[in-house]
Order: sequence, then structure tokens, then C-alpha cells
Amino acid sequence: MSYLLTDVTTLNLGFLASGRGSNMQAIIDACRDGRLNAKPTVIISNNASSGALERAQSAGIAGYHLSRKKHPDPCSLDLVILQTLQRHDVNLVILAGYMQKIGPKVLNSFKNRIINIHPSLLPKFGGRGMYGMKVHEAVLAAGEKETGATVHLVSEEYDEGVILAQRTLPVEQNDTPVTLAVRVLEVEHNLYVETLRKIISGEIGLPDKAIQL
Ligand code: GRF
Repeated sequence: MSYLLTDVTTLNLGFLASGRGSNMQAIIDACRDGRLNAKPTVIISNNASSGALERAQSAGIAGYHLSRKKHPDPCSLDLVILQTLQRHDVNLVILAGYMQKIGPKVLNSFKNRIINIHPSLLPKFGGRGMYGMKVHEAVLAAGEKETGATVHLVSEEYDEGVILAQRTLPVEQNDTPVTLAVRVLEVEHNLYVETLRKIISGEIGLPDKAIQL
């Protein structure tokens, strides 16, 4: 493992988000109030009416709706997302509730530089179809005593990249998927910011970028 983000003077963050964007907002707030030494430079969403794009506008950050509707060919969509990230000099890509697979061009160009947060203790309750309330329903159905959140590197498969950080919280006897979701989300906001802080300070090292052959 080696840490390669210290060689940039400003760490530019690019977000990919499909929904309300509360994790993204927590990170933007931490950048704005000086808790994180990084600059949110661009927000890309596949959903034109996402909260994430509204938040981009309110925060004065460039926002783009890039989706299969606009770019039906997956290769073209992958390329336009990559070009948008590069045009905004992004060093680290943050997935914040992005409900699409990352294309191979973006994945290769940002190898080991794309992170995601998932609302469970991966590898439990991850993978295709495990998102939103379904995760919390599955945790309760399995009778888990604890749950939590995981920040991980993004690989070709859903929720399978190297785990960078996890935080646990107890499942209470009277929890419903909704009450669990609320508590896990609060943990996520703190964990995502804290993990980024550790990446920026070098406390958490990211693997080398892949050698481009
Ligand atoms: C979060 O629970 C995150 O773990 C998952 O998607 C949800 C996004 O929520 N990947 P928000 O859009 O950040 O509010």
C-alpha cells in the first residue's frame, strides 16, 4: 500500500450520486468548514431530479445529469463521465448513493481512487439488489445483533472492493427497518467524513494506482 494523494496540492473531489445526497452534503459541509482539506469540484447524477443535483446548485458546485437516457450507448456514457471528472481535475471519486455500475473507462482511469459507502458491515448484506431499506430489512430478518456502515474501494463488482473503514452500532430489540436506517445514516455521515480525513492525512493508505499496460 502506498499513499499517492499527498502529491496534489488540492484534493479535488468528484461525486456520483443518484438520490437525496445526504452523505455528499456531509462531505461538502466538512470541506466548507475546514474539517476536510479538500474541494468538491463536480457532482454527476444519473437522475435529473435528484436531491444531489439540487444540493450541487445550492452549494455552487458544477452539477451534471449524465444518464443512459442522454447517452444510450454504455461506452459513450462511461466516456462522458470520465471526461467530466477529468475536466474538473478530480483526484478522488466519491460514490454517494450512486445506483449504477461504474464503467470500465472510469474504473481504470481512477483505479483505487473511487470510494463508496454502504449501509451494512460488508461483506454482510452487500452485492446486487442490496440497497436502501432492503439492507436494513435483511439485517433484521437475519436477527443480527449489530449492524453498521462500511467505506470501501470500488471494484468491478458491487460492494466488493477493499474495505477502508467500518463502524458498528447495536440493533435494538424494537428496531424497524426505518429506525435502523435513520441511525445507520447518521453513522455513515460521520464515518465517510472521518475516513476521508484519514485518507487525506495518510492515516489510511490507498493502494497504488494500477500500472496502465
Ligand atoms: C446511503 O445509505 C449509502 O450507504 C448508500 O446509499 C445511501 C445514500 O444516501 N450507498 P444519501 O443519498 O447519501 O442520503
